[in-house]
Amino acid sequence: MIPRSLPPADRRRLGRWLWRGLAALVVLAAVLGLGVYVMLFREVPQRLPVEPGVEPIATYFKYGSIGAENTDGIPYPIWVVLPHVFADKLPRPGGYLAFGMPWEAGDELPIGISKKTIGFPRVAINCAFCHVASYRTEPDGPRQVVLGGPGNRARPLEYVRFLSECAEDPRFNADTLLPAIQYYFDLSPVEKQLYRHVLIPLTRDGLLEQGERYAWTESRPDWLVGRIDPFNPVKYRQLGIDWREEREELGFETIGNSDMQPLWNLAMHRAAEPGGPLPYSYHWDGLNTDLKEVVYSGAIGDGATTESLPVQELDAMQAWLEQLPPPPYPFPVDRELADLGKPIYDRLCADCHAFDGTRTGTVIPRDEIGTDPHRIDMWTEEAMTIYNSFARGEPWAFRAFVKQDGYASVPLDGLWLRAPYLHNGSVPTLEDLMKPSGERPKVFYRGYDVYIDGGTGFIFEGPEAEAEGDRYDTAVPGNSNVGHEGPDYGTDLPESEKRAVIEYMKTL
Ligand code: HEC
Ligand code: HEC
Repeated sequence: MIPRSLPPADRRRLGRWLWRGLAALVVLAAVLGLGVYVMLFREVPQRLPVEPGVEPIATYFKYGSIGAENTDGIPYPIWVVLPHVFADKLPRPGGYLAFGMPWEAGDELPIGISKKTIGFPRVAINCAFCHVASYRTEPDGPRQVVLGGPGNRARPLEYVRFLSECAEDPRFNADTLLPAIQYYFDLSPVEKQLYRHVLIPLTRDGLLEQGERYAWTESRPDWLVGRIDPFNPVKYRQLGIDWREEREELGFETIGNSDMQPLWNLAMHRAAEPGGPLPYSYHWDGLNTDLKEVVYSGAIGDGATTESLPVQELDAMQAWLEQLPPPPYPFPVDRELADLGKPIYDRLCADCHAFDGTRTGTVIPRDEIGTDPHRIDMWTEEAMTIYNSFARGEPWAFRAFVKQDGYASVPLDGLWLRAPYLHNGSVPTLEDLMKPSGERPKVFYRGYDVYIDGGTGFIFEGPEAEAEGDRYDTAVPGNSNVGHEGPDYGTDLPESEKRAVIEYMKTL
């Protein structure tokens, strides 16, 4: 490298300079590397807001990270401006409120969205996106937010589609987004360059890729508000199953559209776990019998990885959910009528639905229960096998995924707020569920959160329900309202007895 023709003294001097230059370069690279690390990858522990009168674990449930920001996190400033820049792509007005997340006055983020700094602030969804219910007892009344309740207004598929439609738009570039971002945020000159050259293009690519990953949803019925296909997204992403190949092998496209489930009182479910009378099956089709695995796989399904899974926080959250009570029915109950209903319930329903029922938490075979079979067929032996080896080597590796062939007989605590009913949310009220399927509503609207005064379900028809809700058509594949009918299910009881059982069920 150093020309031999130079006199030795010059060669030594040049050598020293070269070494110094090299050392300077190494230091510069280290500083830059550190800068890049700090700006892009350094994880800062989350600092959650202090909410007066709210347990910290409840705040964690609302806004805490479940480990999804590492892979799926959207830079917070970009996330903030998307509904402004792409207001035309929102399914309805209201910014992110359009996707059903409750947003408490004065809060930085809606419930169900967490913000964590990994290099830069990133946002992602958490359990509360789907596991928080809301209701009103009158149209002008305040909206009651129920943590752990089934997310009756959540619109996960619309949310995913909104984000990828933004990314597909030519306006998703630094020239459009940076001025919008700077309206809300003070960016340093370095940050500006970072957003222009790195974060905006990378976010665009990431959202486009996410859109691609959901391409399979386009040919299948919409999830609709308050529902999600819970495991097809996991099969086609985390478990590496190719949806086109699956379609070829099975000869049909799987549809898993399911109603959100509540997470309250989980200790009562665990009471029946191994060691108890019967293994308790979680999820509508009973695909796992271990609550911890269900919690962890919930986080994995939402984007956490084996490395980013916050095991301790999730354990604490599970302990809190285990004791979380459902809210009481919000209207007066006719106690005398309810007392008349209890023995009928005990005779016909308790065996499958009371916490100590011999069949509660077990899977009732599809032919016996007779409800829409699509959700059962969405979960496959193949998926079960892959998920059971997915986290091999981790102390919490999954082993309890199973493939069953029916629907779990769920406990009915907090039943009034579980409406609409059945795994696909196909029956708007308990009055309707107590009728033979031919007499249940064929088309109704779900997603309007005003409760029927003194009834058992949300208002499901009329202009308000149509404006705020989604049209539910029971003729759509996966949406059938048949099953759970006949003498064992009380659909042929005399009207007076039905009324009594329904009154009793308001107290569960
Ligand atoms: C995008 C929506 C969504 C998110 C986010 C989500 N879940 Fe769920 N969860 C559901 C749906 C829908 C079901 C019922 C699905 C089925 O089995 O068909 C469910 C079922 C469950 C169940 C089973 C309940 C029972 O009684 O069997 C548990 C427990 C659970 N989720 C916990 C979690 C936890 C913990 C998180 C966060 C780490 C989470 N979920 C995140 C939608 C979601
Ligand atoms: C043989 C067991 C069995 C009996 C008996 C039974 N059920 Fe069920 N029930 C189930 C199963 C399984 C499901 C879930 C089916 C589905 O969603 O496809 C269910 C679902 C329900 C739901 C919907 C829960 C929700 O969160 O949407 C209600 C309400 C209900 N049953 C009420 C009753 C009543 C009332 C009786 C008695 C008159 C009764 N059941 C008798 C097994 C049973």
